[in-house]
Amino acid sequence: MLPSVVEAIGETPLVELARLTRETDGRILAKLDYLNPGFSKKDRIARQMIEDAEAQGRLQSGQTVVELTSGNTGTGLAMVCAVKGYRFVAVMSKGNSLERARMMRALGAEVVLVEQLPGSRPGQVSGGDLELVEKEAQRLVKERDAFHADQFHLAGNVRAHYLHTGPEIWEQAGGQIDAFCDFVGTGGSFAGCAAAFKERNQAIRCYVVEPEGAAVLAGQLLTNPNHPIQGGGYAMPNLPLINPAYIDGYVQVTGREAIESTRQLARVEGIFAGFSSGANLAAALKLLNSELKGKTIAILMCDSGLKYLSTDLWAE
Ligand SMILES: Cc1ncc(COP(=O)(O)O)c(C=O)c1O
Repeated sequence: MLPSVVEAIGETPLVELARLTRETDGRILAKLDYLNPGFSKKDRIARQMIEDAEAQGRLQSGQTVVELTSGNTGTGLAMVCAVKGYRFVAVMSKGNSLERARMMRALGAEVVLVEQLPGSRPGQVSGGDLELVEKEAQRLVKERDAFHADQFHLAGNVRAHYLHTGPEIWEQAGGQIDAFCDFVGTGGSFAGCAAAFKERNQAIRCYVVEPEGAAVLAGQLLTNPNHPIQGGGYAMPNLPLINPAYIDGYVQVTGREAIESTRQLARVEGIFAGFSSGANLAAALKLLNSELKGKTIAILMCDSGLKYLSTDLWAE
């Protein structure tokens, strides 16, 4: 028995996508992080950031926690804060799906929605939209004298995946992985897992996945900041959490490919996940069909498909 839902975070299953790779030379191992209690991998960083801040004396009993979120980190924080007795304010773009705001409110959070830039489309949150959300988050941190659970900068984001996600995958796969590819938002999952893998086997190749047209980490020009892959692909050229030494390569996926792959995950593997999980699958298949023929690639199933019922992911 666990003392609270916070201790139920992590230790998610690793599943081979054997049906989707039947015609392909190679294996894909999917970490089902949508089975966390808040239905995303971001529960892990919520717990780590709060517990790190408590241990460092940067978060005092009764203090408010504020975070900029696309919904998943906010859900994790709402959950962790509810259990630990902190007030939580989530600042989110109106471009993210409505379910997320509803879920955070249900978990006791105050949700502040920020208008998108003129020309931005709902369901497509750009880097510019995020800048507006960041400004509002900073204003609220000052106004409430709050702790800023800043996932783009706090080491807890990387540490959650370095201490848990990566090592769990390694153990579950018996050390039998050749590569890891990950759709990047803050880069915390990529950075933490890559560090854990390379520490155990320097030869494991780690790839950054970005949307086609917004692959700025790969050094490409930003030609299309609007894509449907919620949770990342913000076209930020500098992600402070990512150590470039851990990047062995880059893969681009289109929004269409991510959507098709997300639907395939559900239909063929029974895995009901979100857009970015599909992006990871699409990237892994591209790698198996090119430079990683015959290899084993680990990917994350970042969040649940239930979070997108109001979008057109499942509508067609
Ligand atoms: C659904 C989803 N996928 C991918 C990511 C990107 O993960 P990271 O911030 O660790 O790069 C996020 C981050 O919020 C997310 O919510």
